[in-house]
Amino acid sequence: MTEGKDHKSKLWGGRFQQATEELVEDFTESVRYDKRLYRHDIKGSIAHARMLGEKGIIARQDSELIIDGLNKILEQIEKGEFTWKKELEDVHMNIEKALTDLIGPAGGRLHTARSRNDQVATDFRLYIRDEILKIDSLIQKLQEAFVLQAERHFGLVMPGFTHLQKAQPILYSHHMLAYFEMFKRDRLRLKDCLSRVNICPLGSAALAGTSYPIDRQMTAKELGFEAVSQNSMDAVSDRDFALEFLFCLSVIMMHLSRLSEELILWMSSEFSYVELPDAYCTGSSIMPQKKNPDVPELVRGKTGRVYGSLMALLTTLKGLPLTYNRDLQEDKEQLFDAADTTASSLAVMAGLIMNMQPNSAKMSKDTETGFLTATDLADYLVKKGLPFRQAHEVVGKAVAQCLSKGKELQALGIDELKRLHPLIEDDVLDVLSVEGSVASRKCFGGTGHQPVQEALDAAKKWLEEFKIIL
Ligand code: ARG
Repeated sequence: MTEGKDHKSKLWGGRFQQATEELVEDFTESVRYDKRLYRHDIKGSIAHARMLGEKGIIARQDSELIIDGLNKILEQIEKGEFTWKKELEDVHMNIEKALTDLIGPAGGRLHTARSRNDQVATDFRLYIRDEILKIDSLIQKLQEAFVLQAERHFGLVMPGFTHLQKAQPILYSHHMLAYFEMFKRDRLRLKDCLSRVNICPLGSAALAGTSYPIDRQMTAKELGFEAVSQNSMDAVSDRDFALEFLFCLSVIMMHLSRLSEELILWMSSEFSYVELPDAYCTGSSIMPQKKNPDVPELVRGKTGRVYGSLMALLTTLKGLPLTYNRDLQEDKEQLFDAADTTASSLAVMAGLIMNMQPNSAKMSKDTETGFLTATDLADYLVKKGLPFRQAHEVVGKAVAQCLSKGKELQALGIDELKRLHPLIEDDVLDVLSVEGSVASRKCFGGTGHQPVQEALDAAKKWLEEFKIIL
């Protein structure tokens, strides 16, 4: 029988008479994917062993042996010299068994005053904490790309859309900074999420706490947790922190997906608003002329996958009685996949935005049609004393007239314009210009040059100041 195959070599084998059925082993093991928690598992175990030694729960020598052994195992794993065994079920038991093999009976003392239930919750929280920092810095790169676009093409005017119909002229920089804001909220959300992730469940043991005189504050402090969990039963059952992180990732992907959708539209020959570098596009195996936006399409597609992970975990949790149930093992694969997907999507989109070239000629040309300054004409009449509803009606009729003649508002002669309403005078021509329309939108948060310049400055300042600190 190979090592670990018979019930006696299982860490929990004492009460068993039979070896585990191969099918059951394959079905229940998680080491295949949870081995990626090895660094966090060892870190948690080292803190636990140190505390056990300090508190005299195990001999100091044993504690030192354990810490030494765990560091050696860490090294082995990093060098690729560690053999993971599915018979040992998960990352925790693989490492614990290797420790005992390495240092002898002292290794068997590591699991004193601990259960895999609080151990896995601790590992998972440490892992998500690292992921939050990683995702945060990836979002920062993307935000920097938007700032770069906004700065480089400051002053470029393009149509803004509602209902995907041309609406009012805006600055391209304003559009870029809209995305900056979305991703700013995502980073703030991650920071908030961290405050609930960064709580230490270690010491809750299986569900009821422990009778050993442990010092939970000590392990929590060594592991950089902000606080210890209040209730041992909640601590081993709770996966809200993972759900919250998945929700954060889902919103990030939703933002990336909206951005992707716009890029796909903008790249079409119908819009032709941006040119993506060849390095970020792919071709067609049959149509030689094609340059396809596969990157944003894949990001849009992968968004569904991340939402799926959120729904999967919500569903896994919904019927669980307190406290630990093996269902909880299903939390990891989904979350790993969602975090990896979001990270790679962010990285590739940052590169793409950084290298994107707006087609200023086409954007400007598109502002000349579609009555983009109709609202400005209505506002002009309002400023001359007409109630807004009446002004709206007057301009609506003017647009209808123009449509029947196949003309734009600004193409009407001054006499024709004056005939629209007695309040219209020679100065009307100023408000019909696209540049004038943009320049007039000086209110805070608007698309005028001044507020957009201020927003750009504020964005740069925010980027310098914002930090998620552990
Ligand atoms: N692999 C398990 C998980 O991921 C570790 C905890 C196992 N605990 C237990 N009582 N079987 O949830």
